[in-house]
Amino acid sequence: MQGSGPLNGVVPIGGAKNSALKLMAASLLAEGSTSLLNVPDIADVAIMGELLEAMGVQIERVGNRIDIDVPAELDPVAPYSLVERMRASIVVLGPLLARLGRARVAMPGGDDFGSRPIDMHLQGLEQLGATFSHEHGDITGKADRLVGAEVLLEFPSVGATENLMMAAVLARGTTIIENAAREPEITDLANFLSQMGATIDGLGTSRLTVEGVEVLRPTTYTVIPDRVEAATFLSAVAVCGGELLLKGARSDHMEMLIRKLQEMGMSLAAEPSGLRVEVRNRLRAVDISTLPYPGLATDYKPFLVTALCVAEGAGMVTENIFAGRFRYIDELVRMGAEIRAEGRHAVVRGVERLSGAPVRAHDIRAGAALVVAGLAAEGETIISDAHHVDRGYEDLAGKLSSVGALVTRT
Ligand code: EPU
Repeated sequence: MQGSGPLNGVVPIGGAKNSALKLMAASLLAEGSTSLLNVPDIADVAIMGELLEAMGVQIERVGNRIDIDVPAELDPVAPYSLVERMRASIVVLGPLLARLGRARVAMPGGDDFGSRPIDMHLQGLEQLGATFSHEHGDITGKADRLVGAEVLLEFPSVGATENLMMAAVLARGTTIIENAAREPEITDLANFLSQMGATIDGLGTSRLTVEGVEVLRPTTYTVIPDRVEAATFLSAVAVCGGELLLKGARSDHMEMLIRKLQEMGMSLAAEPSGLRVEVRNRLRAVDISTLPYPGLATDYKPFLVTALCVAEGAGMVTENIFAGRFRYIDELVRMGAEIRAEGRHAVVRGVERLSGAPVRAHDIRAGAALVVAGLAAEGETIISDAHHVDRGYEDLAGKLSSVGALVTRT
């Protein structure tokens, strides 16, 4: 891609990857045909589809709708060949244990940002009565019938909250998840489960109460818009200037991000059809600290760091969720960014313009942030391992070029 700007036009925001993946896993909870609407056509969704198909589920995609046909009998195995390609595969564990009382899931691999344990998922499920053994890289879980319990999470883990919620909906009795994650994708999953017949209280709070039911029914449901895709385009306008309407974006899911970007000097306004953003001048640096929702999401950070790279002044960035999530900084430095990182902290001193260079994408968000950095750079930037970006974005290059960015996918 080439240095670009200003950007102008309308960008449609797709369905949220991190919701769609969990809703697909949750569809295992009910025999029959579930349809999901607004499902992005991205590699991670395809991997989750392959995973469900390996268990005996039939999946068909028509545009942005997927139809998931779940048979009475399932082979409750998530093989390493698929789990290693996508860490989020671990969320099939809760639904499989709840519906079949057994599951074998390979230990996840996934993104390249540090160790990502699943101890909280397993401890929580154990409290609901599951037992686990760990052999040959697989976790085998068993439970006659899960029984509701009070589970206090050590940290509001998104994945652990989701696995527990999906297990609790078919458990006997009441489950209380304390210190639950509150991300919009968790609420989306809870709404989906409720539509399937589950009883869940406390949506959007850190205390979820789930009343187990005997059986759930398949349903049709629309996935919420992807707030991280929206953040990606917000950062593109931050570095290129211009005016975009992010069609479908939910500003109520991005309040802290919007506040930060306004502090930097961006003008943002919620409209009935989406979020309008306008940038006419160079932005000002701010400090950034990632936290669980409603704090500033760790997934936004690579985009905010990229915006800081060309903002006026210096900003301090603190990562509180994933210790190792700073590798893309070395790539930004190759492009002329002035960043000093140590441990969980980085200081970013804005420069006038980055300088195009060959760089490498290490994970989905880092890859997309390098695309944005390329738009703020003089000359050509070539991103290798761009397949990481395809895991989470439907036609990022096409959407960017439709509003004036000079970017192509080869
Ligand atoms: N953690 C544990 N033990 C556990 C679970 C988590 O120590 O059993 C730690 C993690 O190592 C991490 C922290 O808790 O330090 C938070 O992890 P969390 O479980 O909340 O994250 P996740 O469910 O693995 C999801 C998203 C990530 C996003 C995080 C945080 C999906 C598929 N992934 O991951 O999104 O960064 O929540 O919001 O929903 C992405 O989309 O590119 C992405 C990485």
